[in-house]
Amino acid sequence: MPLRVATRRSAADSVDVPLLVLALRKNPSLPADLAALDAKLGGTLSRTVGRRDFRGGRDEVLHVSGSAGAANPQRVLLVGLGEPSDARGALRRAASLAARQARKLGVSALAWYDGDRTADAVEAVTVGLLTGAWEYADLKTPPPADDRRAELESAIVLSDDEAAVDAVERGTAIGEGMALARRLSMMPGNLCTPSYLADTARDIAARHNLQVTVLGRAEMEQEKMGSFLCVAQGTPQDPKLIVLEYKRGPSGTKPIALVGKGLCFDSGGISIKPAQGMEAMKFDMCGAAGVLGALEAIARLQLPVNVVGLIGSTTNMPSGTAVNPGDVVRSHLGKTIEVINTDAEGRLVLADVLSFARRFEPSAVVDAATLTGACVIALGHTASGVFGTDDALVADVLAAGKRAGEPGWHLPLFDEYKDLIKSDVADIKNTGGRPAGASTAAMFLKEFAEGFPWVHMDIAGTAYSDSDLGYIPKGPTGVPVGTFIELVRGRAR
Ligand code: BES
Ligand code: MN
Ligand code: ZN
Repeated sequence: MPLRVATRRSAADSVDVPLLVLALRKNPSLPADLAALDAKLGGTLSRTVGRRDFRGGRDEVLHVSGSAGAANPQRVLLVGLGEPSDARGALRRAASLAARQARKLGVSALAWYDGDRTADAVEAVTVGLLTGAWEYADLKTPPPADDRRAELESAIVLSDDEAAVDAVERGTAIGEGMALARRLSMMPGNLCTPSYLADTARDIAARHNLQVTVLGRAEMEQEKMGSFLCVAQGTPQDPKLIVLEYKRGPSGTKPIALVGKGLCFDSGGISIKPAQGMEAMKFDMCGAAGVLGALEAIARLQLPVNVVGLIGSTTNMPSGTAVNPGDVVRSHLGKTIEVINTDAEGRLVLADVLSFARRFEPSAVVDAATLTGACVIALGHTASGVFGTDDALVADVLAAGKRAGEPGWHLPLFDEYKDLIKSDVADIKNTGGRPAGASTAAMFLKEFAEGFPWVHMDIAGTAYSDSDLGYIPKGPTGVPVGTFIELVRGRAR
């Protein structure tokens, strides 16, 4: 059961919940509107803050026992917002941390107070609460009933803004889009297959009245997608090119295309990866999950835009039928490609998906892909690499990422990088060696992004985390769902 979020105009001292969360900035003094609550709790809040037991730092949490007996609240959780330059981001993060804490405590309901209380804040808090309440427990045997903690079922965000009800609804749409993406990403490769992604797209389409088209191996052969298909030629699973069309914009307006890399497992193929950590390559479909999550949210938000989601999905496997280093294939666009390294498969898949995107006459194409380890080396897990052929679109994507709390960083596409991917036998080769690895990968994609403004996001470092980040557990982060949504939302205004 997903967390239900609602809003209420009450004061913090008059909500009847097992857990009241108070979000406070750095070096707090107790806000005046918490005086009644403090009195009800015998002055414990002002003493805690006065003693500086709680200082309101970012990610700081302190659990204070509430009142005895029937008087509410039973528990208070203080969470720190730090000194945020980005108020929405700080609220989202703190709310996520609080929901995780509530789940650890095993309370079924919480109320949230922050000093902001505006609709914009309420939306951010709702997204944060859903982020923190998310878990992937489908494959774990539940503990015996008496060891089980209660599920966090409901949350009330305190606000007096008239627009708060709509803000909760928007936050819920975004949060559930992210939850969908994270579930798909977390699912192991034997369950989240290209067919499963296609079925998920069909399910989204059926629930929200979108148009869905799925091309399999045979259809892609007819389309002459030699680049995409060479990646899939070592696997018995049917590769899928998934198209989801959302049309609520003014008729005749060109759609924005969101493209996702959907490698349900990337072993590297014949250029096989080392065993250590190879299991993380189930996450090589986070771009695809991001497209599905974003379309789920965009449809729930009923944004007045035209969007087409495009996903290239397969697995990359070594076998007797697999593509070999040195092989040359002909892409959908017609350019020939020498496959130097079969582990540089994402760009081979995306090349054909980008060239296929032309038929939708998109006003812009933005792809998200866990494309290169080099991008992780360049930017770490802090920012996605952003590359593009159109400065205005690059700026839009960077701004969208900032608003979503999913920072991106502009990286270059210097002409010189083109020289690094010149082939002796074909029009282009699929790797350029170690220098500027994220940029040469993007440069390769650029050769296939003809006829529209295009941006590529390398999310290899940001889409999932190998460690617990406090506000978010180890595993998928939801990136790039928020960026996609904010980008499309920006165009809907
Ligand atoms: N999916 C990987 C990139 C990746 C690496 C994502 C680490 C997340 C974490 C991609 O298909 C890949 O294998 N890229 C190679 C390219 C190289 C062979 C030019 C890489 O980055 O090593
Ligand atoms: Mn690879
Ligand atoms: Zn890959």
